[in-house]
Amino acid sequence: MSTDPQSHIHRIRLWDLPTRLFHWLLVAAIATAFVTGQLGGNLIAIHGKVGIAVVGLLAFRLVWGFIGSTPSRFFHFLPTPGRIRSYLKGQWQGHGHNPLGALSVFALLGLLALQSGSGLFTNDDIAFTGPLYSLIDEDLALRLTGWHKQLSWVLLGFLGLHLAAIVFYVRFKKDNLVKPMVTGWKAVPEDSAPAAHKGGGLLALTLALVVAATASYVATGAWLPQAPVAAFTTPAW
Ligand code: HEM
Ligand code: HEM
Repeated sequence: MSTDPQSHIHRIRLWDLPTRLFHWLLVAAIATAFVTGQLGGNLIAIHGKVGIAVVGLLAFRLVWGFIGSTPSRFFHFLPTPGRIRSYLKGQWQGHGHNPLGALSVFALLGLLALQSGSGLFTNDDIAFTGPLYSLIDEDLALRLTGWHKQLSWVLLGFLGLHLAAIVFYVRFKKDNLVKPMVTGWKAVPEDSAPAAHKGGGLLALTLALVVAATASYVATGAWLPQAPVAAFTTPAW
């Protein structure tokens, strides 16, 4: 935390580096997934790999939501009815995701989990099947492929809302939420500076990375028994 002597403004460390990296890697991955998903063709192989990376990112965020630094923890910004009421009355004084923003954060994370999860079981009826396709029957795979396509529009709608909310905060509430998501720092009035953050150390980071790597590995399906390859015999002529 540092103080600006001119204006009684504190600069607090809001988003730790792992949370910021998570966010911007997620943005890059989701943008790539949308482009490659829509273009299809050979790009669907890249689409699958990016989708598996999203599974890893989400697993990372899930763990970080419990053992990351205080503002990144789910309980810190859980949108309880009491917090939502106080936010709507203009009495909420916290830092980080506000209670309404938190609703959209949970919705986005949930939608992304469904989108990437359903992708793992897809069958595009041309040449690509998701890496876990063989675990379910064909009917269910086709249904999940349909949901995967429809859900991508719902996700797009939520992303539109996400961006609109950020523009609204910058323009009308004069609160630049983007800067802290880039630099980690946020300027807050001196009297509302929070207590020091806990968590988010090296051990927590290692654990979150191990869980993320494990989730990505499971999503690749590399652990599944290989389908037997038909034996070719050389004809006698
Ligand atoms: C594919 C596009 C995007 C996705 C999937 C996405 C997803 C998310 C998620 C999941 C969070 C919660 C962060 C956390 O606690 O882990 C978040 C927060 C945030 N995102 Fe995005 N985002 C996207 C695009 C953008 C863009 C383009 C910007 C900036 C122009 C942006 C700015 C922010 C900001 C400022 C926050 C923090 C909001 C707050 O302070 O409550 N996002 N986003
Ligand atoms: C969050 C991550 C993901 C996003 C945002 C995403 C998004 C999309 C989008 C927008 C489409 C095009 C839908 C349409 O044609 O209307 C698509 C199609 C597809 N996705 Fe994903 N996807 C994700 C993850 C995955 C994963 C992990 C896999 C498999 C490993 C996968 C496999 C496919 C396949 C096979 C199609 C083509 C389906 C068809 O045309 O029949 N996706 N995805």
